[in-house]
Amino acid sequence: MDIIRAVRGFKDILPPETEKWQYIEDTAANIFRAFGFKEIRIPILEKTELFRRGIGESTDIVEKEMYTFVDRGEESLTLRPEATASVIRAYLEHSLHSAEPVSKLFTIGPMFRRERPQKGRYRQFNQIDAEILGPDDPRTDAELILMLLHFLHSVGLENLNLEINSLGCERCRPAFREAIVSFLRGGKNELCEDCLRRISTNPLRIFDCKVDTCRQIIARAPLMTEFICTDCREHFLILQEGLRLFNVAYTVNARMVRGLDYYTRTTFEVTTESLGAQNAVLGGGRYDHLVKDLGGPDIPGIGFAIGLERLASLIPDHNGTASPILHLYIAALGNAALTTAFLLTNRLRLKGIHAETDYSGRSLKSQMKRADKLKSTFVLILGEKEINAKRALLRNMKSSSQEEVALDDIENIITNLTR
Ligand code: HAM
Repeated sequence: MDIIRAVRGFKDILPPETEKWQYIEDTAANIFRAFGFKEIRIPILEKTELFRRGIGESTDIVEKEMYTFVDRGEESLTLRPEATASVIRAYLEHSLHSAEPVSKLFTIGPMFRRERPQKGRYRQFNQIDAEILGPDDPRTDAELILMLLHFLHSVGLENLNLEINSLGCERCRPAFREAIVSFLRGGKNELCEDCLRRISTNPLRIFDCKVDTCRQIIARAPLMTEFICTDCREHFLILQEGLRLFNVAYTVNARMVRGLDYYTRTTFEVTTESLGAQNAVLGGGRYDHLVKDLGGPDIPGIGFAIGLERLASLIPDHNGTASPILHLYIAALGNAALTTAFLLTNRLRLKGIHAETDYSGRSLKSQMKRADKLKSTFVLILGEKEINAKRALLRNMKSSSQEEVALDDIENIITNLTR
């Protein structure tokens, strides 16, 4: 019979990869905490309406990538394609805004998008997501980016490109949008089918089109910089000043639009050449109307989400993420030795010392081979003879030296040796 395999685009994360993930998640949580963030845990299933309204009807995500189903003929539900809309849903549902003027929340977990799977792109992927709700000051934007880069450096990432942009606000963006629309109408005959459709649905998305002819046209398109209002320009400049105060290197990419409709003003992405085609490690930005659009008060926000699979693929295994050391392997020979091995192994584990043994009664040679494979620091050899004499042989696997020790002292000896 054939084995059952995982669904296409859905990936298992196996050890030792999981150890790397734990290391990344712990580092994120520690660094985020110092910046005042608290963890929020939200469901992976939401009402479809939340994403339609939050992310935008005419985005690729909502148009074609959501896993949506009608739950027993009652209501339309969707596996979350991102976390921001859900975080704000929870923020409003539990009135967090009435308790605190500023909420800094982070969450880590799986998202679902029915994209074409390829290296670095999955249908279930994980994000580390952080959101700040309340402030609209550009220094908040700067400190969020600062925290983000500090985190990326802390887990060993280098050679990153930080790109920032301002998408303007409800006052200046409409003129830009109109300019793009009339520009595109001029070059209509050469645009791909998707971009033709985008002229009326979501014209800014054409900046992300990968088709060559479209790219050539888009290279001549007007940019937001030409339309940005004084307030938005000021906001963008203060953000940049904040970044410079911390020597954060960045480039302004006026062609960066994001794949979600909720953004206003600041947007940013971190990319790296080492990722290939799917080169974005993370993306984020400000969303000053999203809370209101989801039925709440007029509260601005900003956040980002890091792709965990992509991030993990950039971190070498040895970077603080190696498997925990095996301190002691007990090679037990004969029934009496098995009971002692069982007792000793588990007593040590209860003290936090990693010990292993083998109840199969295999030969000493194959148990030593196993200890070697597991890279155990010490091996304790326990046979019938040793049990009777209440002694055992302790072997240091690195130096290959061994000594006879009293069984009653083993716990103490190992505890001291592994400290
Ligand atoms: P996003 O740019 O759609 O933004 O996704 C953020 C990151 O998630 C990407 O840069 C990438 O690393 C990862 N990612 C996205 N799709 C996939 C996929 N199919 N496979 C693997 N990784 C993927 C958001 O999701 C916004 N909610 C970010 C945000 C938070 N903006 C404000 N607050």
